Amino acid sequence: MNDVAVRALRDDEFRSAHRLFRAALHAGPGTDEEWERVRPVFQPGRVLGAFDEQLVGTARSMDAELVVPGGARVPLAAVTGVGVRADRTRRGVLTGLMRTQLAELAGRGVSAATLYATEGPIYGRFGYGIAGRARSYTVSRQRARLRPDAPEGGRIEMLDLDEAERRLPEVYSALPLRPGMMSRDRWWPGLFAGMRSGDDPAVALVHHGADGPDGFALYRVSRDSGMSATLRVVDLHSGNATAFAGLWRFLLGVDLVDTVIARNRPLDEPVELLLTDPRACETTELTDETWLRLVDVEAALAARTWHGAPLVLEVTDPVLDHNTGRYRVGPDEVSRTDEPADAALGVAELAMIFAGGWLPSALVDAGRISVLDPGVAVRLDELARTRRAPWCGTFF
Ligand SMILES: CC(C)(COP(=O)(O)OP(=O)(O)OC[C@H]1O[C@@H](n2cnc3c(N)ncnc32)[C@H](O)[C@@H]1OP(=O)(O)O)[C@@H](O)C(=O)NCCC(=O)NCCS
Repeated sequence: MNDVAVRALRDDEFRSAHRLFRAALHAGPGTDEEWERVRPVFQPGRVLGAFDEQLVGTARSMDAELVVPGGARVPLAAVTGVGVRADRTRRGVLTGLMRTQLAELAGRGVSAATLYATEGPIYGRFGYGIAGRARSYTVSRQRARLRPDAPEGGRIEMLDLDEAERRLPEVYSALPLRPGMMSRDRWWPGLFAGMRSGDDPAVALVHHGADGPDGFALYRVSRDSGMSATLRVVDLHSGNATAFAGLWRFLLGVDLVDTVIARNRPLDEPVELLLTDPRACETTELTDETWLRLVDVEAALAARTWHGAPLVLEVTDPVLDHNTGRYRVGPDEVSRTDEPADAALGVAELAMIFAGGWLPSALVDAGRISVLDPGVAVRLDELARTRRAPWCGTFF
């Protein structure tokens, strides 16, 4: 990188960074009103700018917590707002931003960073790997009949957006979260800013189970031609199978809706299992969801649960040297070691198996993890086994 300096931006520079990011995504600068709505998600100290004579690139993050397999939470940076001016790309500006950001996160004791990538080739070189994948699907309301054995569900309460903004954060915080999910404290204002813009009506639901609120959904409905309409699920989380079925029972019962669209949902979400005709639910897209970067490998490995016999992993980190080394990883302990390695992998591949998004043996087969002998691949699968597909479910 030539003559580009990276530093944290002052509050009065945030809007320029926002404009630059929007321009990098080919969006206009946005109105004053839009800026006021998104302003709260710009966290002081976490907005970086790259300068030559002027601002030419930006990246920021929000503090959060990541849920890891086993349910523990670790300090997380949710990285977003990454953009470089079109006349300054491919000369190392992003590289400078990423390196500065990762060093700063490591210095603050953050265990992991996560992001949504616009394109696949961008972030692997900085140690990010695909944490998990997501499915988008469409349910034909005309064809979708719930099976008689589908859980009945509890009471559904409809909220207006002001009340939803007050109450949903608490409902979400009390839910049992799956690996890959994150705390949302700084995120909610952006969601509700989006829900309040646009013309399509927005609706919020809370599901009440035997012990109180245990799920919620936010959706918007757009009128198609004539009286038909499309319902788009914006956010849906449930703490148990009854709440999940109850929310879907409601969504499939909304009058005048032809199609229900749910985007970027977990791979193991069982909508079709609730239906008499499973093909009423059609998968329309399968994509990578979040990318994960282990910033403090030892702390992250120690926070999650492991299974079976311990293995020694040799990890290489091209950006954060302190992570390079051998780790003995097992259900009872995670520690640095000098013992010979059973498997060698990059920090990006470690991130891919960390939350359970990929079978280690698939990465061995693809040549991305080296193993001492073929039996190690099977033992790695057992070591990293998780019960549920990882999913973030919070788009930032
Ligand atoms: C993606 C983006 C931030 C990259 O910034 P940049 O300053 O050009 O990146 P760098 O010059 O530091 O690139 C580092 C390396 O990554 C490669 N790279 C960067 N962006 C890439 C892309 N979109 N596709 C393929 N390779 C890419 C570069 O070629 C370079 O590799 P090299 O060193 O082997 O030549 C910039 O292109 C951009 O703003 N794009 C539009 C907005 C966007 O997609 N932002 C990401 C939001 S998640």
